[in-house]
Amino acid sequence: MVVAKTEPNQFIAFLESSQDLEIAREAFKSVNLKNVEIIQGGVKEAITLFSQRTSPRYLIVDVSKSDLPVSDLSRLSEVCEPGVIVLAVGERNDVGLYRDLMRLGIFEYVVSPLFPEILTRAIKSMIFGEEKTKSGQSKTGKVISFVGSRGGVGTTFLSTNFAAILSKEKARRSVVLDLDLQFGTVPLYFDLKPSYGLRDVLENPDRIDNVFIERLLTPVNDRLFIIGSEEPLDEVMKYKTEGLEVLISYLAKQFHYVIIDVPHYSNAITRSVLGSSHILVLVTDSSLGGLRDSGRLISLFGGEGTGRRVIVVMNKMGNYVKNEVKVTDFEQALNHKINHVIDFDNFNPLDCINNAKTLVNQESALSGSIRKIVDDVIGARPMSDSKNIITNFLKMLKLK
Ligand SMILES: Nc1ncnc2c1ncn2[C@@H]1O[C@H](COP(=O)(O)OP(=O)(O)OP(=O)(O)O)[C@@H](O)[C@H]1O
Ligand SMILES: [Mg+2]
Repeated sequence: MVVAKTEPNQFIAFLESSQDLEIAREAFKSVNLKNVEIIQGGVKEAITLFSQRTSPRYLIVDVSKSDLPVSDLSRLSEVCEPGVIVLAVGERNDVGLYRDLMRLGIFEYVVSPLFPEILTRAIKSMIFGEEKTKSGQSKTGKVISFVGSRGGVGTTFLSTNFAAILSKEKARRSVVLDLDLQFGTVPLYFDLKPSYGLRDVLENPDRIDNVFIERLLTPVNDRLFIIGSEEPLDEVMKYKTEGLEVLISYLAKQFHYVIIDVPHYSNAITRSVLGSSHILVLVTDSSLGGLRDSGRLISLFGGEGTGRRVIVVMNKMGNYVKNEVKVTDFEQALNHKINHVIDFDNFNPLDCINNAKTLVNQESALSGSIRKIVDDVIGARPMSDSKNIITNFLKMLKLK
């Protein structure tokens, strides 16, 4: 089984100059580190490598040859595991750059050419001092809750395909946590067995540890994991919010995106999950009931702003053409924009669940709509926008 955790103490250093490479070799020897890889190169090579393979726990990256070190390191953080501890090396010795890098969550910045004592000290504090010193600065993933305004509106179909596209096409490490312990269908969408122990973790928060939680993660591929259960229907679930909080904060350290499929009912768990989510993806139909409960769920989520956002998705449009509430009327009554409208599709969604398929790399109106939600969440500009800019520009030059 592929485990989500990176190997302990695994260290990779990317350095440009032969002199720095030699000093790094000596420094690693002096702290007696074995599980180390030293590569000639810099931040660009690191991005290429970790777009294809799992990043280590500790990373040294040279930004000397980078014109835009802050944006390159930010790009690197998108392809690395969120918890990775990064030491940047560069030729510039300026306070502004240092401050920007610290803000980005970089552990430390040291100036090249390297000095053996300084590098050794930095490596030691990366490994031994991380908890005490800068743990607060290491980046954690975004928590996204998918909630339906009604049952059956397509929440799980969207959460699973969102995660599949995000992890496969955008290379972000993601996990889908299905909180409907009895009726949840996340594992079915991937034709995987439910994970045993989720209920235990949630019911006994004091027994939670990393090993316990890692056993829950079922891999779909090397960047996507799921956690789901199939608890007996005749038992009452008594899990507590503490268990969920510990689980979510652990997952946020391991994944770029923690996608929670929240069941359609309101209890202490729903409130706690919404409280700790950065983004609420509210899935609704165009019915009056959908409208009423969309409003109630948005207020339960609380205000937007300061890193919190609501994305409203109206799904299955066109299913009941005649009696659907119009998008503009819905928006006006809800006092919130409908950010995405997805048409009813009478083939793909059922094909997905019945044959455990996803819409990854598929070209269709439906996959395009889900891709737009992914772009919205990761802040990518849709292709069509950039194409339009170029087309307009060419038109201005009368080349088109
Ligand atoms: N855009 C769509 N067009 C047509 N069918 C859809 C669409 N989106 C989802 N479906 C179908 O609707 C059904 C319900 O979807 P899903 O299980 O995702 O809903 P849910 O909101 O998670 O339900 P529950 O409340 O039971 O968890 C599924 O058969 C799914 O394939
Ligand atoms: Mg569901």
